[in-house]
Amino acid sequence: MTGVDTHQLEQLESNARREVAEAESLPDLTAIRAGYLGKKGSLAAILRGIGELDGAERAAVGKSANITKGRIEQCVAERRAAIEAAVRKQALGAQALDTSLPGVEDPPLGRLHPITRVFRDMVEFFSSMGFAIEEGPEVETQYNNFEALNIPEVHPARDEQDTFYVDGGNVLRTHTSNVQIRTMTGRTPPFRFIAPGRVYRHDLSPRHSPMFHQIEGFMVDEQVSFGDLKGLLMAFGRHLMGDDIELRFRANDFPFTEPSAELDYVCLLCEKQGCAVCSGSGWMEWGGCGMIHPRVLENCGIDSERYQGFAFGMGVDRTALLRYGIPHIRLLFEGDLRVLGRI
Ligand code: DAH
Repeated sequence: MTGVDTHQLEQLESNARREVAEAESLPDLTAIRAGYLGKKGSLAAILRGIGELDGAERAAVGKSANITKGRIEQCVAERRAAIEAAVRKQALGAQALDTSLPGVEDPPLGRLHPITRVFRDMVEFFSSMGFAIEEGPEVETQYNNFEALNIPEVHPARDEQDTFYVDGGNVLRTHTSNVQIRTMTGRTPPFRFIAPGRVYRHDLSPRHSPMFHQIEGFMVDEQVSFGDLKGLLMAFGRHLMGDDIELRFRANDFPFTEPSAELDYVCLLCEKQGCAVCSGSGWMEWGGCGMIHPRVLENCGIDSERYQGFAFGMGVDRTALLRYGIPHIRLLFEGDLRVLGRI
């Protein structure tokens, strides 16, 4: 054999296998393949020499060269698959999620708002006593908010300073007492209802906000006394603030009750010493109550000779201030986590 022999092909194949095995990347592999199998590659160079061989030899070497080429191609393909698999594995590894890692430490937990919390306790108390829940609209007619409740036109509560008037002569309800009228009208006693909700007044101080919350309650039957009312509200106050809470009844005057009283909590923010929230009095007005005025019952179509009832309206925000030691009503509406986290 002159120009070409099978030994040369074996040598070429073994060199190619070694280089291919060492290729680390696809571009390297492509270059190596071209170096052996490309038009200007080593195998082509060898084949150029076979012209000098005689016919039988040329055929034999040509065949061997093809087999060599096939084996190198196979070797390159295997290496390509291996490199691609390694690249994929590395990419996946980079995005891998380690599910055994600990989570974010101490994530901030959502809580009920202090007002929601107080409302729920209030509703729970009255539900357990057989009171049903009613709700009324926040935009109310002057009739339901005032007149039907025996609040005459000249009463200070009708003054623009206290009341927000809206288009059409309606008002933003100044108390939840409107629900008394809406609930009693057209129905026959006995009644036992509570009405929690938002109310609105032109007012701003550590214990007044233009929007605040009340819970109204009333009971009407043939035998209902002021004693029932007093016992109920004392139990209510203790349910919310604990058995040791000091409460006091004071005579008061409301157009829609006769007799009327105001119920105060001792101011827990200052322990009765007097502070800005209780205006130095040591007591916090919690709400009003009394025996429903016969005229209110008659306005709702109820026979006031046969039926009598009591009613009350308590402040919810103030209860939250005392219960959670919050020194200004505005703090309840600012979303500050230091306040919201107190419950
Ligand atoms: N509506 C009164 C207010 O907002 C509170 C009130 C007092 C409600 C006496 C009543 C009541 O039902 O009987 O100041």
